[in-house]
Amino acid sequence: MEARRQFRNWDVYLRPSPYAILVRRWDKVSQTPGKSWPRSVGRDLPPGLLGPVAYTGQAMQSIADLRTSYERDELDEAASAADPRLQFELWLQQALDAKLPEPTAMTLASVGADSRPSTRVVLLKGNDARGLVWFSNYRSRKGRELEANPFAALQFHWVELERVVRIEGRVEHTDAAESDAYYKTRPLDSRIGAWASPQSDVITSRAVLVANAAKVSARYLLNPPRPPHWGGFRLVPDRWEFWQGRRSRLHDRLVYRLVEDAWQRERLAP
Ligand SMILES: Cc1cc2nc3c(=O)[nH]c(=O)nc-3n(C[C@H](O)[C@H](O)[C@H](O)COP(=O)(O)O)c2cc1C
Repeated sequence: MEARRQFRNWDVYLRPSPYAILVRRWDKVSQTPGKSWPRSVGRDLPPGLLGPVAYTGQAMQSIADLRTSYERDELDEAASAADPRLQFELWLQQALDAKLPEPTAMTLASVGADSRPSTRVVLLKGNDARGLVWFSNYRSRKGRELEANPFAALQFHWVELERVVRIEGRVEHTDAAESDAYYKTRPLDSRIGAWASPQSDVITSRAVLVANAAKVSARYLLNPPRPPHWGGFRLVPDRWEFWQGRRSRLHDRLVYRLVEDAWQRERLAP
């Protein structure tokens, strides 16, 4: 059992032993851990007593205290586009202009035949009136889940802009020509990787990947063709949500639903 004591802007964790275990400097202004954390004090400390094990549980309390007030922008019915795709393009462009890290990274949620949801991050590679496109391995976990249940959800979280976009709809494979066209634009090591990695399968070690990549390189040299099990997915949206963080947790949420081929926009409570 540890005890937590606060002293000015220090959190001190004590263990029932002669040792004072951890001291954490807490930055009161930014509400983030100070640079010196974790720091240990004590004498003759047995090896292994300090470190993550000593503070894991207590750190949760500090996480619960973290709060940000969202005040950058607002989203209202009058200023948003009637077509959600245009609204998305505007926000995506703003995320690109803001030079955010990985602005096209989106979380993809799928649900397998066993009804259990799973998520992972993929990169948006195409976006037009037909839907949103990413590329992956059709035999991967996501590939198998989308095969069994072709409905998915995507989510962008542009933290610095205090924005989230959620998109739901049906997923299909892009046609072979579209997959080929994108595959050809990839760097050689990525094209080899598409062959070398049996994505989502258990492998005995990293050496398997390296050996696979060497075999693929020797076989195809500079021109590996697109593997038949690798290609594009397109989500055809029937629901979009745009979330803009606002002060006092009174965030803006505009949802667009496709009703008889027309987009209906509604506001949701935050
Ligand atoms: C920023 C980022 C981008 C990624 N982009 C892709 C991608 O476009 N396609 C892909 O298959 N995996 C991508 N990955 C890896 C996936 O998140 C995931 O590990 C992989 O697709 C296997 O997922 P699965 O086992 O659920 O099928 C990306 C990971 C990160 C962190």
